[in-house]
Amino acid sequence: MSERVIGVLASGRGSNLQSIIDHIEGGYIKNARIGVVISDRASAYALERARRHGIEAVYINPHAYPTKEEYEQKVLEVLEEHGVELVLLAGYMRIVGDTLLDAYEGRMLNIHPALLPAFRGLHAQRQALEYGVKVAGCTVHFVDREVDHGPIIIQRCVEVREDDTEETLSARILEQEHKIYPEAVRLYLEGKLKIEGRRVRVLE
Ligand code: GAR
Repeated sequence: MSERVIGVLASGRGSNLQSIIDHIEGGYIKNARIGVVISDRASAYALERARRHGIEAVYINPHAYPTKEEYEQKVLEVLEEHGVELVLLAGYMRIVGDTLLDAYEGRMLNIHPALLPAFRGLHAQRQALEYGVKVAGCTVHFVDREVDHGPIIIQRCVEVREDDTEETLSARILEQEHKIYPEAVRLYLEGKLKIEGRRVRVLE
């Protein structure tokens, strides 16, 4: 069977990217490779992580394009050039538009550091602390046309402790992110995810 090709979009430090790389290299995610990592930020450490593992790393400057459509058209071109089947958003801090979704809806996943539908958008962990919830967590979901909204694949909870700060809570959530994202990718590649409306059935 030919290797499946994953593309990753990342804007920052890339620890979720690293977790996917490690789970591929360690054999947990089988018969797949990351074909390309694309970042909208030149300084994203995710690009460096990719290069260190011999993965092509591409910076695409959104400001070099007159419209979001044209920027996304370029991203799409690079994904397609690399034969990408599955796109993973890993700390990609842009709202995905129609150009990418028309091509990849149902084949694009995102990880968000909250138990959706709570605390969508930026600084989810801070939002959780400020709201006063007693459990927080993370979600892997299919990407749809609303932000942090598509059908949910896996969620994991962590407790919120009395002395938590945004940093300590984020770290505890991140540990779980690094587990559930590879798990979701594996399920996807094994053909075990079936979307029925908002529900994702995990086939055994
Ligand atoms: C992660 O916590 C991820 O869940 C979050 O950004 C961080 C990226 O870290 N994503 C979002 O908030 C998207 N709405 P990383 O670059 O180390 O993977």
